[in-house]
Amino acid sequence: YESLAKAAEGLFKIGTALNERQLNSGENESLAITKEHFNAIVAENCMKSGRIQPVEGEFVWEHADRFVEFGEKHGMEINGHTLIWHSQAPKWFFVDEQGNDVSKEVLIERMETHINTLVGRYKGRVHTWDVVNETILDDGSWRNSKFYQILGEDFVKIAFELAHKADPEARLFYNDYSMAMPGKREGVVNMVKNLQKQGVKIDGIGMQGHVGLDYPSLEEFENSIKAFADLGVEVMITEMDVSALPNPSNHQGAEISDSIEYQQMLNPYTEGLPDSVQQRFNERYLDFFNLFLKYKDNISRVTFWGVTDRYSWKNNFPVRGRTDYPLLFDRDYQAKAVVSDIIELLGEH
Ligand code: G3I
Repeated sequence: YESLAKAAEGLFKIGTALNERQLNSGENESLAITKEHFNAIVAENCMKSGRIQPVEGEFVWEHADRFVEFGEKHGMEINGHTLIWHSQAPKWFFVDEQGNDVSKEVLIERMETHINTLVGRYKGRVHTWDVVNETILDDGSWRNSKFYQILGEDFVKIAFELAHKADPEARLFYNDYSMAMPGKREGVVNMVKNLQKQGVKIDGIGMQGHVGLDYPSLEEFENSIKAFADLGVEVMITEMDVSALPNPSNHQGAEISDSIEYQQMLNPYTEGLPDSVQQRFNERYLDFFNLFLKYKDNISRVTFWGVTDRYSWKNNFPVRGRTDYPLLFDRDYQAKAVVSDIIELLGEH
């Protein structure tokens, strides 16, 4: 096979996130790679509530329209991200004119308008929605977001029901990070079971794949795939990238955070990845793909969080201005060696 998507045919979809920069400037290199290697796309930013409805009642469609048109033109699965998320949500969503929290009724009304308008506009065109994003914390407890403060756990059920009503054909997902952590796994399983018990339509769980060279353990990641598959829903690997840089939270560094040594420690490979790290990076991707293949009957899509290292969010997280190497294509749009390794591995199945 010459392409990731072709090699994965019959196994799972292979997706990538696209951002405004690529779609607007017609940033041809990234789009060419997308056409060649991917058969699913997800909106990295342009469908988030703060972007699409920055002011109440004023929807900004330009970027999302372009995103959907690109996917349609190339016959891709089009994934909407994300309807209800505490982050990147506009402030007006939660407050009245005096700046106080709105009532339950008003918040539900705003959710309804937001979801109806957005899902309704792309009805039958956007095939899946991340309905709720990142509401369970790593220890399994609920995030104390505005949605939770005002509506309690019910906001998740309300969001899924509204999305289902707005497009009965769309597949609806819950999406979250650090899913390999036992506490989070249990919290998500409990939440989804609860939704299922109440008859809410939830089609799948998205496991964000923001991983490093050494975390999380494959075993714990696998335990979560199993636990989610056991719920009878689709499992998606969403937002896959493998950071090659040290994770600052693993380092005691607060007291030396301004020192040059500390900065260099966090951004060690500005001139390119050393061979040994490059090799570890390749192995890590292959380990994950072997795992995904083991669960190919449960996993419906594997999505990368971007096309090239040049535009990865990882260059600005957890600290700004790093040179990270998390994706399959380098800063010059060249396929890394791991691409042909993955293609070969997929081709054997
Ligand atoms: O486009 C503006 C630019 O005009 C402005 O000058 C610049 C100044 O900060 O900001 C630019 O916007 C940034 C945007 O990315 C585009 O690069 C935002 O500040 C920045 O907050 C935004 O970050 C995004 C982040 O979500 C927050 O929404 C990342 O691109 C995006 O990759 C990231 O994706 C999230 C998923 O949605 C959910 N899971 C975690 C994942 C990683 O954080």
